Amino acid sequence: MTGASGVLGRAVVPRLEEDGHEVRRTSRRPRAGWVRADVATGKGLAEAVAGMDAVVHLASATRQYRKAGEVDVAGTRRLASAAERAGVRHLVYISIVGIDRIPFGYYRHKLAAEKVLQARPIPWSILRATQFPQLVDERFLPLASRLGVLVADPGIAVQLVDPRDVADRIAVLLAAGPSRQVENFGGPEVETSEEIVRAWLRATGKRRPVFSLRLPGKTPRAMREGALTTTDQPTGTRTWRAYLAERYTPVRDSQA
Ligand SMILES: NC(=O)c1ccc[n+]([C@@H]2O[C@H](COP(=O)([O-])OP(=O)(O)OC[C@H]3O[C@@H](n4cnc5c(N)ncnc54)[C@H](OP(=O)(O)O)[C@@H]3O)[C@@H](O)[C@H]2O)c1
Repeated sequence: MTGASGVLGRAVVPRLEEDGHEVRRTSRRPRAGWVRADVATGKGLAEAVAGMDAVVHLASATRQYRKAGEVDVAGTRRLASAAERAGVRHLVYISIVGIDRIPFGYYRHKLAAEKVLQARPIPWSILRATQFPQLVDERFLPLASRLGVLVADPGIAVQLVDPRDVADRIAVLLAAGPSRQVENFGGPEVETSEEIVRAWLRATGKRRPVFSLRLPGKTPRAMREGALTTTDQPTGTRTWRAYLAERYTPVRDSQA
């Protein structure tokens, strides 16, 4: 598995082990018991895939979007090619809902990576997920709130999905075998970005004014047209509110 150290990977590894899979985790960094591999250079990929029945490919330039060409597009090509040489029978790739509708550079690279995979001989399945709560809670909103105010476009709806639900879906795809289909997978609720922001402020106890503003540009417009959501079934079951409760409710001391 690539991307095993990431937010999604940390949910997928234990889920697949629960199903009895022997998971070989890869990372660019040396970690005891893991295989060191980098999709951007190809180093370690042959060792990573040798003897594997399937590859779950989660690695992505999520922290440096400008590297997405090397990591996501060329990296997917390198990994697929190594997996084909090793006789791997299924490659599951995680992608993002709406990448074909939202003109955002990183999304264009994810779409190109899907196309790379679809043109390869290796049998594949692609799961496009919506945004994870951690992305909003740990990256977007802390960054946005540095301005002192939060801006929410009331027309943009999101459908956050918990990585544990995505992990369940990946387990189902692996068990079913290569579908050669692109499947959308979202969370259980569609909410406006304003609702997401206000729930986060309540849960974290932060105080910021929230401004409703119709954001200009093609990317927000595509988002207002629903590109971040899907009507496809099944969906995940864990909500944004449940995530916030789990993350921010203080653990009571049972001794007290
Ligand atoms: N976050 C979301 O809301 C969201 C929504 C839908 C789909 N997705 C997709 O889900 C996948 C995982 O996202 P995430 O949020 O879990 O990401 P993340 O926490 O930022 O982790 C990124 C992972 O990619 C690996 N990686 C980065 N560059 C690499 C390279 N050159 N070679 C090998 N591995 C590399 C990292 O491994 P090391 O640092 O250990 O090498 C890390 O495990 C991505 O494909 C993303 O597009 C994410």
